[in-house]
Amino acid sequence: MLSKIKSLGLMGIDGCIVLVETDISKGLPSFDMVGLGDTAVKESKERVRAAIKNADLDFPIKRITINLAPADKKKEGSAFDLPIALGILAATEQVNIKDIENYGFLGELSLDGEIKPVKGILPMVISARENGLKSIILPLENADEAAVVNGLNILPAGSIKDVVNHLNGLKKINKYSVDIDNIFRNNISYDVDFSDVKGQETVKRALEVAASGAHNCVMIGSPGCGKTMIARRLPTILPSMTFEEALEVTKIHSIAGTLATNTSLITQRPFRAPHHTISNVSLVGGGRHPKPGEISLAHYGVLFLDELPEFNRSALEVLRQPLEDGVVTISRINATLTYPARTTLICAANPCKCGNYLDHSKECTCTPKQIGQYLSKLSGPLLDRIDLHIEVSSIQYKDLDSKKEEEKSSDVRERVNRTRKIQQERYKGMNIYSNAELSPAMIKKYCKLDVQCKNILENAFERLGLSARAHGRILKVARTIADMEECQDIKTHHLLEAIQYRSLDRKIWSGQ
Ligand SMILES: Nc1ncnc2c1ncn2[C@@H]1O[C@H](COP(=O)(O)OP(=O)(O)OP(=O)(O)O)[C@@H](O)[C@H]1O
Ligand SMILES: [Mg+2]
Ligand SMILES: [Zn+2]
Repeated sequence: MLSKIKSLGLMGIDGCIVLVETDISKGLPSFDMVGLGDTAVKESKERVRAAIKNADLDFPIKRITINLAPADKKKEGSAFDLPIALGILAATEQVNIKDIENYGFLGELSLDGEIKPVKGILPMVISARENGLKSIILPLENADEAAVVNGLNILPAGSIKDVVNHLNGLKKINKYSVDIDNIFRNNISYDVDFSDVKGQETVKRALEVAASGAHNCVMIGSPGCGKTMIARRLPTILPSMTFEEALEVTKIHSIAGTLATNTSLITQRPFRAPHHTISNVSLVGGGRHPKPGEISLAHYGVLFLDELPEFNRSALEVLRQPLEDGVVTISRINATLTYPARTTLICAANPCKCGNYLDHSKECTCTPKQIGQYLSKLSGPLLDRIDLHIEVSSIQYKDLDSKKEEEKSSDVRERVNRTRKIQQERYKGMNIYSNAELSPAMIKKYCKLDVQCKNILENAFERLGLSARAHGRILKVARTIADMEECQDIKTHHLLEAIQYRSLDRKIWSGQ
């Protein structure tokens, strides 16, 4: 007997249909599996055999051949246990197959026949819907994640016995659903807030500029001045996530296995702060069993590189392309995978080895040469992708003790939303959303300067010895500052503020 059972696999961040074909024939007892499975898929045989037996069902003592189609796509993970088991039960007529082509099955089996959760449920369920499946049977623990997708029946099952009883009409599994609008509306809150940060008006202003135009930035300041604290609060002033953005972020975390149980949808912008000892693969993704890296886990959120000079140069090199393109491309023998990686990068660094160069109350013990060398390692690969350089000085005691109410993230976010909307309107149909993404040709078109501004910029270049690269960055940031004031044209004060955010182009750091 031959049976065909539908399941789902993953290609990058998207799901795809995998057909589990089971042939059972007379002959010496054997159990073979073909169709490019990895070790987890191969080990599946033992789990399936034990699960079927321990659920008081019959495991046939015959020649069993399983084919996972399409054969040219590599299959990973343990989610095929359940469909393989069902294939055997269908081929031996232990389950009713009348309606089975409308079902998809996903789940790992334990030896006693229980169904265990698997990674990547969300993209697989989306793909099930796209492929016209009416119902999907999946692990109980994955139900919340799957229920984000409407348009098909989500049927969570605890054990293989539950599935058999359902298909045979003995005991139906109830459809599972969640009120997604409710989750989305109620969950957009953060446990930190911009108002926690006392004083630091100029730093907050700079971060608002960064958030308003999606600009990458670096903060330079002495130890303890609040860099880490402030960076953690950047996601809270970024524009609110749309449902589509939330879905895409959840997909990535679903595949990476970083989604908390009972989470349907990630509604907060991610904040990822990898340690400087992180491997290149963990940073950008890939590996033998490809997984999204930190830069993709930070998709639509913030990637924070704290203590930037401690990172390996090669780590900064590998970030370069993804930061530029907004995607990570991983080449494999059978296919090329892409993971989205649109993130706002924020880095923090001490200004020099002793840390005190910008601190007026403490003495810097470094020589000018040492100061120049300290950040020089960043100059090439990464600094080229960074629009704003923000100097953070230590907070004064009187500010820390002040009773003044600081502005809340939600208020800042409202302004940021408004400024982003202006950009979205302006760049409609151009496949970009923010000033940070402007190409050189677009900069020419949208960041025009009048004569007075041109003179200011020319002077600044001579005085600060700026490179050609700084030119485009200053113009983009000036465009954002003008948009924040809802100004059509870039005015002198917009430009002057943008020039201020180029500290690291100053001679002492640029090694000139
Ligand atoms: N502006 C501020 N308002 C309120 N608290 C602050 C402020 N700045 C610093 N702090 C307090 O100081 C602590 C240290 O700040 P933080 O760790 O962010 O400094 P840092 O610049 O990252 O230092 P390092 O270079 O050592 O990593 C914070 O946890 C916070 O409690
Ligand atoms: Mg810190
Ligand atoms: Zn120093």
